Parts: sequence; C-alpha cells; structure tokens
Amino acid sequence: MLSKRSQPAQKTVSAPPEQAGPRHVAIIMDGNGRWAQKKGKIRTFGHKAGVESVRSVVRFARQTGIQSLTLFAFSSENWKRPEEEVSVLMELFNLVLNSEVKRLHKNDVRLKVIGDVSAFDDKLKAKIRKAEEMTANNSALVLNIAANYGGRWDIAHAAQTLAKQVQDNLLAPEQIDEDKLGQYISTAELPELDLLIRTGGERRISNFLLWQCAYAELYFTDVLWPDFTEQVFQVAVDDYNVRQRRFGLTGEQVSVSQR
Ligand code: IPE
Ligand code: IPE
Ligand code: MG
Repeated sequence: MLSKRSQPAQKTVSAPPEQAGPRHVAIIMDGNGRWAQKKGKIRTFGHKAGVESVRSVVRFARQTGIQSLTLFAFSSENWKRPEEEVSVLMELFNLVLNSEVKRLHKNDVRLKVIGDVSAFDDKLKAKIRKAEEMTANNSALVLNIAANYGGRWDIAHAAQTLAKQVQDNLLAPEQIDEDKLGQYISTAELPELDLLIRTGGERRISNFLLWQCAYAELYFTDVLWPDFTEQVFQVAVDDYNVRQRRFGLTGEQVSVSQR
C-alpha cells in the first residue's frame, strides 16, 4: 500500500459535478480524399465537399449548447502532401474565411485559429486576424480551427513560453507544474476537452490535441467527413452521454458524487 507521503499530488483533471452534454467537442475531419476517390474524382473534390459538413457541425454545436468546437483542418504534417493538394487546401481556407465569417458573426460565434499561423502567407494571416478580431466578443460558441496544428508543437510552444519567463526571472523552474503549463496550451481558455470524434475509420490521434486528450472520451466512426451529418453528430453525443467518466475514481465513487 502507498504511504500517505508517497501518494501522488492531486491532479488538476477533475470530474464535472454532473454529466450534462459535452461542453467541448473536437473533430478530426478525416476521409475527404477517399470519399472523392470512391466517386472517381480527385482528392481535392472531397476537401471542397467537406466544407458543407463543417457548416452542419457548427450549426449543430450552436443549436445544442456545445460551448466549444475544435476542428482539425490542417495538421503540421499535412505540408508533406503533394504541392497541388496543399495549395487547394490553402485556397479553400481563404475562400471559407471570405464566405463564412459574416454569417458566423451574425450567429454570435467566436472564431479562433489554433496552430502555428506564422507559416501562412501574409494575406491569409491578415484574414485570420481580422476574423478573430471581428468575432472576439461573441459568446454563443467558440469555433476553433486547428490549422498548421500539431499536439507536440502545442506542448513545445507552451514550454518555450515558460522557459522565456524563467530566463527573465519571472518564474522559478519549481513553479512549473501541470496547471502552469496548461495555461499556455492553445485551448487554455476553453473548457476541458470532453469528446474527440474522428471520422474516416482510422483509430488514431494523428498528433491532434495530445495534452487535451488526457481525459477526453474518444469516438471513432467509419463515416467519411463529407458524409458526416447532424444525425451522425447526434449519435456520437448520445454515445458520450451514456458513458461514465471516472477520472481515476471508482464507478461507485462517481455514482455517489452525482447523486
Ligand atoms: C482529411 O481528409 C482532410 C485533411 C487532412 C486536410 P484526408 O485528405 O486525409 O482524406 P483521406 O484520409 O485521404 O481519405
Ligand atoms: C489528420 O488526418 C489531419 C486532419 C484531419 C486535418 P490525416 O489524414 O492527415 O491523418 P493520418 O496521416 O492518416 O494519420
Ligand atoms: Mg486522412
């Protein structure tokens, strides 16, 4: 048995007082290329079709009271794809920002982009900044677009910020703990990630929200992203709603605390 002294310190991840629906949902929007290829079309046709699914999930999140929706749009590894595909994806990002931001604003949605945006061209960077500023005070839903995002980058970036504070004598190394590092992770202002959905059939995280996944519920579906609808989203949320999240406790402890 562990002596009292050797027991680990209380972790910061804790169970919400009662299980409502998920407050923060993230989606790995995968399967666009295969969807297009199944139809005898080129891969980028699938990326274009996937935009409609993005509209439906935003609508669904907005209507069902999900507070934050984080969508994986482009990973730090996706630069390695054929140049033509990367350039269509960048173009699409530009077009979607042009066509959707006003509507998001009208619907009280706050848009944020997480990831290393420094890699994008100046035009795209300016557009992102403008969209973020315009929607900054909206509060019905936070829509996070992960672009040039990597979970390892996110953690390394937070570590670098803290290292600078140590160097400037603003922080002692001993003050760096999970809470402190967590404050500099890109989703720090949002509720803890409750549910991660991946479409397209693969069962992996692909360097998405590594830190945030510590206690997220995972849901995998074979549905390819362009076929993802509000109904499929509802099935994922229903599945989440009947799970018991234990956060290290026993099932009995959780049932008692929820009574
Ligand atoms: C996800 O779909 C979209 C991005 C990665 C940008 P994919 O393009 O990965 O589609 P599949 O997995 O090849 O079918
Ligand atoms: C993850 O999908 C990235 C996005 C959905 C944006 P990938 O298709 O890039 O993932 P892997 O390469 O199959 O793991
Ligand atoms: Mg893929």
